[in-house]
Amino acid sequence: MAILPIIRMGHPLLRQTARPVPAPVPPAVRQLAMDMIDTMEDAGGAGLAAPQVAADWRLIVFRAPPPDEGDTGDRAAARTIQVLINPELVPLDTETRTDREVGWEGCLSVPDLRGAVRRHTRIRYRGLDLDGSPVQRDARGFHARVVQHEIDHLDGVLYLDRMDDLRYLSYTRELARFADDPLFRLPG
Ligand code: NI
Repeated sequence: MAILPIIRMGHPLLRQTARPVPAPVPPAVRQLAMDMIDTMEDAGGAGLAAPQVAADWRLIVFRAPPPDEGDTGDRAAARTIQVLINPELVPLDTETRTDREVGWEGCLSVPDLRGAVRRHTRIRYRGLDLDGSPVQRDARGFHARVVQHEIDHLDGVLYLDRMDDLRYLSYTRELARFADDPLFRLPG
């Protein structure tokens, strides 16, 4: 078990496009994925992308609903850990802005903050698992949001870049305290 240091916003590596992982998956990348899982669990995150631990690979780990259960899109369903190498996604909803859903996000590289981000409600994603086997899943809700957030990291994009309105940027503690305030009522 190894907990890796998580780099924070302002580090240039968070703004670069990460390299594809070659096939077969190098042993060092397999080890990195295992360490990223430990790091994500230690930090209590829902997902982690390799650039966040200063590793230049297209590799993400995240919590997802068990594949044999239906995807309700609920955060509570995200009980298994998925490793995804060279991930790609396609939206399954339409591209119109109002068909995308606004929800709160945080990021281990932007600690203590939450921001409201509009994301596709339904996506299909593909990639490889640690054994190099193809993975393809459809995701909705929280599951879809996490995957979009983590894949963004591979292209140097932070959730703040996706925010429509910076008034919906808050410290986590203030958001919890004033959650009922009209200020934090999310737009539809
Ligand atoms: Ni993040």
